Amino acid sequence: MTAYRPLIAGNWKMHGVEASLGEVRAMVAAVEGRPPASRVAICPPATLIDRLAAQVKGTLIEVGGQDCRAEAQGAYTGDIAAEMLADAGATLVILGHSERRAGYGEGDALIAAKAVAALRAGLEPIVCVGESLAEREAGQTLSVITGQTRGSLPEDLAGHAFAVAYEPVWAIGTGLTPTLEQIAEAHAAIRATLVEGFGEHGRRIPILYGGSVKPSNAAEILRTAEVGGALVGGASLKASDFTAIFEAL
Ligand code: PGA
Repeated sequence: MTAYRPLIAGNWKMHGVEASLGEVRAMVAAVEGRPPASRVAICPPATLIDRLAAQVKGTLIEVGGQDCRAEAQGAYTGDIAAEMLADAGATLVILGHSERRAGYGEGDALIAAKAVAALRAGLEPIVCVGESLAEREAGQTLSVITGQTRGSLPEDLAGHAFAVAYEPVWAIGTGLTPTLEQIAEAHAAIRATLVEGFGEHGRRIPILYGGSVKPSNAAEILRTAEVGGALVGGASLKASDFTAIFEAL
């Protein structure tokens, strides 16, 4: 018995236009009648959130954003507030993805501020942490991911729903995955950090694994200790692949 429902979340990144909603129809059909023992979410580009939310309304599928700004409104051209994601129909938001940490220089403090904003807007943050290949080779994996976990989460979760995703940077979009032992070791370290920071609530935070999850490796990864779901990039774009992954739970 885990203290939470496992979550399979699809991160569409910058993929998806109106035509992609056809794949969502097939995903909706696949979750129909499923007992709600687990959760499924799709995080499309912001432009599709409201259409997707309308399409999955009343089904098991939840909708998330991929980033938000910490402020609720203001002169921030191009940015999107957590409140706007919620207004469009999102209930979750991915924060601190490595593509944002690396590409936009997002650091732990900024990600923690965004997580506070997400909670303020009633969204469940999925905060990503993960080491680079150089950090793994230097034996720094556990210190990097526990440091990111401590630094990128709000000081107080006040009972809010929250998720963390362990995504080794070198495993994202590469087809490479850590060994199951490496995944278990990383997840155990993150769990210990969450319990240290948040007490009992720290046990109710699902820790997703992300990085080259696909139908052929999903079952063994999802069965690994402390893996509370998956954050799926490429394989979440096709209904057949994404469905096979959440059916592996
Ligand atoms: P991938 O991406 O599944 O395509 O490796 C995962 C992610 O970046 O969240």
